[in-house]
Amino acid sequence: MGKLRIGVVGAGNIAANAHLPAYQKCSNAVPVAICDIDIERAKKTAEQFNIPEVYGSIEEMLEKADIDAVDICTWNNAHAPCLIAAAKAGKHVMCEKPLAMSLDDALKMEKAVKENNIIFFLAVPSRFGYANMYLREMYERGELGDVYYSKTSYNRRRGTPLGWFTDKKTSGGGPVIDIGVHRIDAAWYLMGTPKPVRVSANVFNKIGDYQTKGVDRWHGTPCPDNKFDCEDSGAGVIHFENGATMVFEASWAINAPEKYETLVCGSKAGATVEPLTIYGERNDYLSTDTVTVSPKNDKFQLEIEHFADCVLKGIKETKYPIEQAVDMQRMLQAIYDSAAQGKEIVIGE
Ligand SMILES: NC(=O)c1ccc[n+]([C@@H]2O[C@H](COP(=O)([O-])OP(=O)(O)OC[C@H]3O[C@@H](n4cnc5c(N)ncnc54)[C@H](O)[C@@H]3O)[C@@H](O)[C@H]2O)c1
Repeated sequence: MGKLRIGVVGAGNIAANAHLPAYQKCSNAVPVAICDIDIERAKKTAEQFNIPEVYGSIEEMLEKADIDAVDICTWNNAHAPCLIAAAKAGKHVMCEKPLAMSLDDALKMEKAVKENNIIFFLAVPSRFGYANMYLREMYERGELGDVYYSKTSYNRRRGTPLGWFTDKKTSGGGPVIDIGVHRIDAAWYLMGTPKPVRVSANVFNKIGDYQTKGVDRWHGTPCPDNKFDCEDSGAGVIHFENGATMVFEASWAINAPEKYETLVCGSKAGATVEPLTIYGERNDYLSTDTVTVSPKNDKFQLEIEHFADCVLKGIKETKYPIEQAVDMQRMLQAIYDSAAQGKEIVIGE
């Protein structure tokens, strides 16, 4: 079987520092074209990774390049138009998180995926971390039992990214949609991706535009008229159709300790992902088991190989299909709606 021929859309940080180095190790996919609205950036990245074809827009790439699929690595506001254009051209799509800026866009993307019968995969690398994979296997074997509660935090004390990330018209929101989504997803995946039904949340913008010295930042590219008009932190509660509940928090900046936590509690056992620890009972006594897995597996390589494998074998049900991506967007939308309206949001009303 030949390698999947990929057109990369967006030649920025995640493409150049994660996806393209991962493609160099992939056995079943190869980037043969790249485009960026900043064509000079695309040319530089193409040269660095020996990508033969460079374009200044996805439309031109879709028209001229001989590709099977696209890998969308753009600002969040371009995910929907790029996916819809690719789907209409019959190309399969792997798309960086978050799926979209809004639920409206997410629903249009779902329609495009289904009408054009393409294979879709949302690239959320934590699903390919060994700890998550171990716990998901436990969940599938029924060893966690009924997972009814989870708690998840992605709290940077100071870590507001630069550039487009802080501008709502380009990002759709702040740390909730940017980094919170990683851990909300990790917990949701280990709960068995139940249907979200109600959300109560709040978001704040208090200290994110700080002048603190001696701290690191992710360097996003500036977008036109770049502002800081989204939240710097957020927290809330998500309820699911099966009665389960998730408590989450996310921050780019908060006067609190850094905290990276995913805890799931089931009727047979509970677990934390970081560190990978299982809380249960053995022989009628409490047991606390640690499991050793390498933190160093290249999640980006695994997610790309998974997507390519699905396309090459015609497998529609990827590890992050469009229906789940839309449900995640329902949660994100309800979090922002709850914050804006100051009340609990019933999803679907
Ligand atoms: N999986 C992860 O851990 C992770 C980490 C960081 C970022 N991301 C995601 O990756 C995406 C890109 O983030 P980044 O940090 O690389 O940003 P970036 O600013 O470094 O790069 C984005 C690139 O997209 C280009 N672009 C914008 N609109 C475009 C369009 N319509 N067509 C073609 N190119 C376009 C920009 O010119 C820029 O070069 C975001 O969706 C972000 O959420 C994921």
